[in-house]
Amino acid sequence: MKVAAQQPAPLSGAPGVPRHVAIIMDGNGRWAKARRLPRIAGHKQGVEAVRRVARAARELGIEALTLYAFSSENWRRPETEVRDLMGLLRHFLASELDELISEGVILRVIGDYTKMAPDLVRMIDDAVARTAGNPGPVLVIALNYGSQAEIVAAARTLARDVADGTLAPDAIDEARFAGALATRDLPPLDLMIRTSGEQRLSNFLLWQAAYAELVFVDTLWPDFDGKCLAAALEQYGMRERRFGGL
Ligand code: FPP
Repeated sequence: MKVAAQQPAPLSGAPGVPRHVAIIMDGNGRWAKARRLPRIAGHKQGVEAVRRVARAARELGIEALTLYAFSSENWRRPETEVRDLMGLLRHFLASELDELISEGVILRVIGDYTKMAPDLVRMIDDAVARTAGNPGPVLVIALNYGSQAEIVAAARTLARDVADGTLAPDAIDEARFAGALATRDLPPLDLMIRTSGEQRLSNFLLWQAAYAELVFVDTLWPDFDGKCLAAALEQYGMRERRFGGL
């Protein structure tokens, strides 16, 4: 009898596994402060957590992982911290691209990243283009992202189509609106996690979170790992999702 090679079972789509998980990675500064280190040290460890968690998400069979790396409000931070964060992003893209390609990951960016430094924009465009043909899963990085701005942009796109005469106002429904958002070709958001004990959405995926389960954990982002992600998935698995029904 021929014995089939031991292949890891494809987890994607497995019952109880959310298809799309988003994370508000919070607490880098507090992690550093607790160790009397500069804030950049917390962000550096935050990047290590990104690596760990992206890997764990792939192993768990999550189809799309969306990470809030830089909000449109984060420009208000001191110039040095913004510069440090941009440097870490450059480093992440340069050092991680080969692994993302070899793992079949599709890298996507949401948010107006074109407002970032031209060399970073080129790096992002290159990484996105080089991973676009991969089979997936999808790693989405939110950069210069704000959900209200995303919703306004979608409304503007639809308004233009109406003004052009290519769209009837009555044809605008939830599906059409969702189709004008940056997340249009991603699976519906199932689970939103925020680390560090804060309990708010901070202008992240407001439309998409309409029926998402929310999990808030006290762990600071630099300490978050695959086990923490698995624990959040366990909480998600215990929730009864009714989508407004009974
Ligand atoms: C929140 O912690 C974290 C951020 C604003 C930045 C998140 C960025 C990273 C994890 C690194 C870059 C990401 C990638 C994808 C390479 P905070 O500084 O607000 O922490 P605090 O609330 O404790 O001060």
